[in-house]
Amino acid sequence: MISKHSKPKHGYSRNKPVCFPGCVHTSCNTERLESFDRQYKSADPSQLIQLIVSSRPHSSDLCTATMSSTPSSTATDRFNKIAENYEASTGGGTRELAQHAISLIAGLKPLTSESTILDNACGTGIVTDIILQSGIRPEIHAVDAAENMVSIARGRFADSHPNVHAAVMPGEALSFPDDTFTHSITNLGLMFFTDADQGAREIARTLRPDGVAVVTGWTVRAPFKIMQEVQARVRPNDPPFQPPVAEVWLDPEHTRAVLSGAGLDVHASAALDVHMGGETAEATADILTRFSSRAFAAWSEEDREKVPGAMEKIVRELAVPFTRSSGSGVGIKLTGTIFVVRRGSGRAV
Ligand SMILES: C[S@@+](CC[C@H](N)C(=O)[O-])C[C@H]1O[C@@H](n2cnc3c(N)ncnc32)[C@H](O)[C@@H]1O
Repeated sequence: MISKHSKPKHGYSRNKPVCFPGCVHTSCNTERLESFDRQYKSADPSQLIQLIVSSRPHSSDLCTATMSSTPSSTATDRFNKIAENYEASTGGGTRELAQHAISLIAGLKPLTSESTILDNACGTGIVTDIILQSGIRPEIHAVDAAENMVSIARGRFADSHPNVHAAVMPGEALSFPDDTFTHSITNLGLMFFTDADQGAREIARTLRPDGVAVVTGWTVRAPFKIMQEVQARVRPNDPPFQPPVAEVWLDPEHTRAVLSGAGLDVHASAALDVHMGGETAEATADILTRFSSRAFAAWSEEDREKVPGAMEKIVRELAVPFTRSSGSGVGIKLTGTIFVVRRGSGRAV
């Protein structure tokens, strides 16, 4: 079942980029900054999230000093470092998106115990866990480039599920033969790949001709916007943090183009709201503080002590109630996109 939050995907229009308050780059447009500042100060809480998420700090056409057009080559290192706390720091948002993605793929081709499934860029194995919780026992290959992630996934399923195989494997070089998988799921992974085009080609190559794949992404980096907002309040003169994923991945059309270029036809797509949150606003602020801790690690102790208070204030301004299958809570809205794809007739090699 697709959630009631599902909405048809419309054309994506980009807002003109604006730098955040606190930007120190002289090339940035001061007038625009002041206008942002005025709107920001007069906005009520419901407008604030829109204002924050619709701004585009240091996009390449305004300020090229800090924005890289490609994701960092150290994505795997970063995920290795955060593996232990990864799942707790997502506040359930990635799991919620994965649940929708799995529902969509199963709607097109049911998942059964006879399925052979790729959990690509599996992280700690959230996708595999959701599939197993449905009670079926398919063969699942859970693979990821970060060995610490894989070791958590392996430990999670090794004893109870011999049909789950976890392996360290970059998405750009899957070690499976052509036409292996009935279902292939890449939840929030492709944008981190060093070579996403090659990763998409590997999804196409390893998918059976009648198989179905699903690829997800975000259209808004809400947690990073909040981190930047904390930074703006605590250290207003610092240049804003740069999120770890290139901005182009916020545009669903980019993902669509990468998939098409790999010979995958988009069969269905959806934009969905999910939430990063906890039971209370305080718990959500705590999750976000943990999510951000590495970014703030180099700050002075005095500045770091200001983070939880600033975070809680911002979260209280922005948080909205949510209900999901695991229960209700208060959280930050995240918008994800889901692409369900099949191999096209002219598969790229
Ligand atoms: C945001 S996490 C998503 C994890 C998981 N799919 C989930 O739903 O929670 C992104 C994952 O992509 C993995 N990753 C990054 N680059 C990769 C690559 N080139 N090949 C395979 N996995 C990669 C990271 O190690 C990390 O586990």
